[in-house]
Amino acid sequence: AAPLRIALAGLGTVGAGLVRLIESNGALIASRAGRPVEIVAVSARDRSKNRGVDISGYAWEDDMTALAARSDVDVVVELVGGSDGPALATARHALKGGKALVTANKAMIAHHGLELAELAEANGVALRFEAAVAGGIPVIKGLREGAAANRIERIYGILNGTCNYILSTMEQTGRDFGEVLKEAQELGYAEADPTFDVEGVDAAHKLAILAALAFGAKIDFAAVDVGGIGRVRAADIAQAEALGYRIRLIGMADVDDQGNLFQRVQPCLVPHNNPLAAVDGPTNAVVAEGNFSGRLLFQGAGAGDGPTASAVAADLVDIARGDTGAPFSVPAAELAAFAPADAGHRTGR
Ligand code: NDP
Ligand code: HSE
Repeated sequence: AAPLRIALAGLGTVGAGLVRLIESNGALIASRAGRPVEIVAVSARDRSKNRGVDISGYAWEDDMTALAARSDVDVVVELVGGSDGPALATARHALKGGKALVTANKAMIAHHGLELAELAEANGVALRFEAAVAGGIPVIKGLREGAAANRIERIYGILNGTCNYILSTMEQTGRDFGEVLKEAQELGYAEADPTFDVEGVDAAHKLAILAALAFGAKIDFAAVDVGGIGRVRAADIAQAEALGYRIRLIGMADVDDQGNLFQRVQPCLVPHNNPLAAVDGPTNAVVAEGNFSGRLLFQGAGAGDGPTASAVAADLVDIARGDTGAPFSVPAAELAAFAPADAGHRTGR
């Protein structure tokens, strides 16, 4: 069968991880997808940078919109980052040109997901963003497919690997916040601007996406009440521990009896006997409560090259199999606008 031809925008932690994964697992992917998945062309900022992967066999494009416009490409994979700028331009260009789009970019989906879903649907192509929420955990597929027959009552969990790495490492070693954050950056977990992690904005992007999927809601990132872990000190962690709790950055969304949507990201005290208290390192965990499924717990690596590339590649396999279904489970035009349950503190980001 004809290969699925990929244009790859972004060759950083996740992009280079995807090159490695496709090179290493290409035969397995081809057998599961029913056809080969091949990278044709790539783009990033600096062509000469050593990325630890061989890109000499792919065409290079300096201009990402030219990459997205190539006639020898079926799918554009956007792994650049940022809610606007070249990522959004590339995404719009790809979808308007009738190419499928796969992205790991939660900031872009949280801000422009509805517009991109409408573009994808209007052009009859797929938009997929499994890697945008909770790294390697197939939580979007879990909601779109596994829990498709359920009304979701509530969704919550640990949505940022960097914060969880910082909190759990400080807890276990007593090390300093700044030193552990630096380590998380070196390990490839943090955003290009790590204040997005530490201030809870990245978790809020993911929560807004999950809420849209879980409740059939229009994404409303501006309505998320956002707090981060920047003010958590080693002494707070020790005090919580002494009282039988661990501090975790938790995102939570539900719809109240009046039909208002509550979305909040805050550091929370989690009792030792709650499964979320045992979630360590860059791990994420998402709990979805379905009215027939009961509590579903999705847990695994929430950040890092391998797990995130794995989620991107799973989207590519779906597209190779011909799945062009609505990205938010229902057509974008049918997503409901909920009123925010609690205005609280808003963030402009
Ligand atoms: P990196 O910063 O490691 O890589 C970004 C890539 O985009 C680099 O190749 C960079 O080029 C390129 N790039 C950045 N800005 C520009 C620009 N203005 N023009 C052209 N190229 C540009 O990011 P990650 O790989 O960590 O993240 C990529 C996406 O995946 C982001 O949306 C992130 O939120 C998301 N994500 C990341 C996870 C992780 O664990 N790291 C997990 C889940 C999602 P160059 O290399 O030449 O500088
Ligand atoms: N910076 C993000 C995190 C990457 O630490 O969770 C995964 O989305």
